[in-house]
Amino acid sequence: MENPAVRARGIVKSFGDVVALDGVDLDVVEGQVHGLVGPNGAGKTTLLGLLLGLAVPDSGTLQILGTPVGRTLACPDGVAGFVDGPGLYPTLTARQNLTALASLRGSGSDGVDVALEQVGLTDVAGDRVRGFSLGMRQRLGLAAALLTRPRLLVLDEPANGLDPAGTRHVHRVIAGLSAEGTSVVMSSHRMDDLAALCSEVTIVNTGRVVFSGPVTKLATESGDLDYRLLSSDAAFARRIASETPGVRVLADDDPLRRQATDALVVRAPVSALDDLVARLVGAGVAVRELAPVIAPLEAAFLALTEGDTEPGANGEEDRR
Ligand SMILES: Nc1ncnc2c1ncn2[C@@H]1O[C@H](COP(=O)(O)OP(=O)(O)O)[C@@H](O)[C@H]1O
Ligand SMILES: [Mg+2]
Repeated sequence: MENPAVRARGIVKSFGDVVALDGVDLDVVEGQVHGLVGPNGAGKTTLLGLLLGLAVPDSGTLQILGTPVGRTLACPDGVAGFVDGPGLYPTLTARQNLTALASLRGSGSDGVDVALEQVGLTDVAGDRVRGFSLGMRQRLGLAAALLTRPRLLVLDEPANGLDPAGTRHVHRVIAGLSAEGTSVVMSSHRMDDLAALCSEVTIVNTGRVVFSGPVTKLATESGDLDYRLLSSDAAFARRIASETPGVRVLADDDPLRRQATDALVVRAPVSALDDLVARLVGAGVAVRELAPVIAPLEAAFLALTEGDTEPGANGEEDRR
């Protein structure tokens, strides 16, 4: 890699007994959107905080935009972003928040309206932030980061609290910045959130990197997927599936799905699945639907992060 935006090696960071980061390497290619994915408590916020100079690692080396990061707490030149939600003044309006930030940084308020426009907050620029939804706050935080025209943008769960339209908007802004050459690192606890946007992802679990590389490579890590099979004769299909080598018929544990249809859930490699379809059709059973229960990227993410998670580290809302 010629000029990485971020190059981290062997980063360790502990809080008392808790090892939040345990020898993490991270490479962010300049001008790319890099996803940092992991369940709650994996260490994402801690790692992004190091990139923003909010903390220093216990050990390991960190180089940002070509410059080694020292032991002082300061945001490296050319870097902007936020972790754990943007810091905003609730009693000020959106525009006043950005203007105050710009004057704090001594950068003048010229870019304020452009930044508001970029994130789609022009219409509510005069409203107090106190009444903003979580999604609107996230977008205002993004606008605040854009004010400085950063070369590296660091965003911690920027899609958190956004509805699908808001997420698309934020994603468009990020894709646009990346097209102009800005490097972006953004985190999420959901893989499907990032798949469309990121060229590469790093998956962390309890402080360790369990995958890092192109999104396309991740899809091959998922192993055998679970597929939902809907056919013209569920009982017969179940018998044929159970007799097909390499195919396992699973109990569908989703009561809603079980009630609504008489679909089967089977786990199989693609070759065995092909065999199953041929057998079904050969026996006169029509295949009406055959699709992965979970998207392949999400499945790979779950396969890499489930099982060895410490109790309580994975939030209940993430269990699906
Ligand atoms: N300031 C802190 N003090 C004590 N423990 C912390 C602190 N920050 C993070 N941790 C712990 O470090 C681990 C990683 O946290 P975090 O980086 O916030 O994970 P994520 O953002 O992936 O959810 C968790 O076990 C968390 O409880
Ligand atoms: Mg976090």
